[in-house]
Amino acid sequence: MAEARTLTAPRAAPDAQAAREVADGLRRAQPELPPKFFYDEAGSRLFEEITRLPEYYLTRTERALMQRWMPAWIGPLAPAAMVELGAGSAEKTTIVLDAIAAASPRAVYVPVDVSGDFLDETAVRIRAAYPSLQVQPVVADFTEAFDLPDGLGGPVLHAFLGSTIGNFAPDDAVQLLRRVRARMAPGDRFLLGVDQRKNPARIEAAYNDAAGVTAQFNLNMLRVVNTLAGTDFNVSRWEHRAFYNGVEHRIEMHLVSVIDQTVTVPGSGEFAFRAGQTIRTEISAKHDHDSVEAMFAAAGLRIDEWVTDRDGLYALVLASPAD
Ligand code: AVJ
Repeated sequence: MAEARTLTAPRAAPDAQAAREVADGLRRAQPELPPKFFYDEAGSRLFEEITRLPEYYLTRTERALMQRWMPAWIGPLAPAAMVELGAGSAEKTTIVLDAIAAASPRAVYVPVDVSGDFLDETAVRIRAAYPSLQVQPVVADFTEAFDLPDGLGGPVLHAFLGSTIGNFAPDDAVQLLRRVRARMAPGDRFLLGVDQRKNPARIEAAYNDAAGVTAQFNLNMLRVVNTLAGTDFNVSRWEHRAFYNGVEHRIEMHLVSVIDQTVTVPGSGEFAFRAGQTIRTEISAKHDHDSVEAMFAAAGLRIDEWVTDRDGLYALVLASPAD
């Protein structure tokens, strides 16, 4: 399953902009690195492996929900276009595209992702599988404002799948949703896939798999950062930690310094870490009906459809402009 998103393609030479971004993150009271640095080629492969782990229920539960509900939701809507945020390899998207191609064969599919290489591959694959659809990829960082192709027609289905919304703190999630809402005409719809709050032990297991793949995925970020920013992280001096923060309703992934050490960031000098100090690499917020409703209300969206699997692990949501 190729759900992984390559948010930053590794460049040959370390880049001053990336080094500044790393230094800004490491300077905080809780040092952090942005999750986009997970996804070089190795990281994308590791993420795909994660999606197949027995403990990682998210991907397979979302897929089953999409298989169950997309025909009923998409058929009557007959979208003229689908815009997918963070499309990556768009593997899970084929369930939506099957429904769209059946309802409106000439629809336009607009995958949006920061990695141009990844998007090109996706476009080639989707064009081959859906010859009647038009594929118009947009290379953009969807956490910022970006332009969509002209003349998409309507209605437009905006999709944000894979519980990627969990990577955003509440204010940032609302800001992102507001930008989506600002593009929506009255007949357009927003489709969200989002992981649900549940027994913390179940969630923690999904981020601490027995095979250690998530640990490799987390540690790989240091290699990516070394390549992109020219830092000198020694991967063997860090270890994986993931825990559920019940106050913020989110998984936090950290890298724990196993000894006192320093790391050099080009242009910013040395950063000291004591044994036991951590760098936070990801938050993965978990939601429920109320929290989604609150985010949507703040962004001007109204829930039309809300479904979960029978165990309530994961939700698929369809929303409209509220006014
Ligand atoms: C791609 C952000 C949805 O938060 O579950 C998986 C990434 N991190 N295991 C998630 C991830 C560790 C994933 N998202």
